[in-house]
Amino acid sequence: MTTRALTIFDTTVGKKAVMAGTGAILLTFVVGHMLGNLQVYLGPKAMNEYAALLQSNPTLLWAVRLVMFVTLGLHVLTATQLYLLNRSARPVRYRMKTSVTTTYSARTMVIGGPLVAAYLAYHLAHLTGGFTKGLGYPHLPLDANGLPDVFHNVVMSFQIPWCVALYVVAQVLLGLHLYHGAWSLFQSLGINHRRYNETLRSAASAIGVAVAVGFLAVPVGVFLGYVK
Ligand code: HEM
Repeated sequence: MTTRALTIFDTTVGKKAVMAGTGAILLTFVVGHMLGNLQVYLGPKAMNEYAALLQSNPTLLWAVRLVMFVTLGLHVLTATQLYLLNRSARPVRYRMKTSVTTTYSARTMVIGGPLVAAYLAYHLAHLTGGFTKGLGYPHLPLDANGLPDVFHNVVMSFQIPWCVALYVVAQVLLGLHLYHGAWSLFQSLGINHRRYNETLRSAASAIGVAVAVGFLAVPVGVFLGYVK
């Protein structure tokens, strides 16, 4: 049984299936997180109650964190393996690259993937870990209802121009990553027919744009003074 699973994972098709499966789980998390963040527009009470709800069951919270951590780890590991396999299959690089079918976002996967991962590390340190103390405000003071003031943390952070700029760049990269990721997911699922390809490209673009715009609405909205 184990041997069989290992054999499947050792094939390129198996690795692509892992990329697709883990990518779909990560995409689900990202969409949920983006929608949750938009509650910042409902004011501090709604946002902080939502954050408190997510933190209210530590066992469930850590179980979900563990699943997400393993999923992300598998996604990154498999991406690296596929990249290395791809390279070793062509030790002599193309002298001239005519990337007709390889889109801009596909080429940025190799750079964009690690950059999104680096952003995530920063983001966790920033808004979850509380390493923002050095920026001049206390991490998560309590709000009027005694709940950790996640709203305040977000609003204070996005008064800082470089922090907003960093988040803007990261969300654009994430949008491109999701566009290409969603397109690859469709291919891995075997949904690939000339008649549908244009629709699938549009669907992949819509996913990338919707997630990027949804996330961007928070730092940009705060910076422009729509949320305070
Ligand atoms: C403008 C964009 C974003 C904003 C404003 C934002 C906001 C937040 C906030 C406020 C928290 C802490 C919640 C709490 O402590 O209760 C958080 C946690 C987190 N965010 Fe984001 N986020 C953004 C983008 C992203 C993106 C693009 C990803 C993934 C690619 C991401 C992944 C995470 C993860 C994994 C956590 C930790 C969840 C946990 O506590 O286990 N975030 N985010």
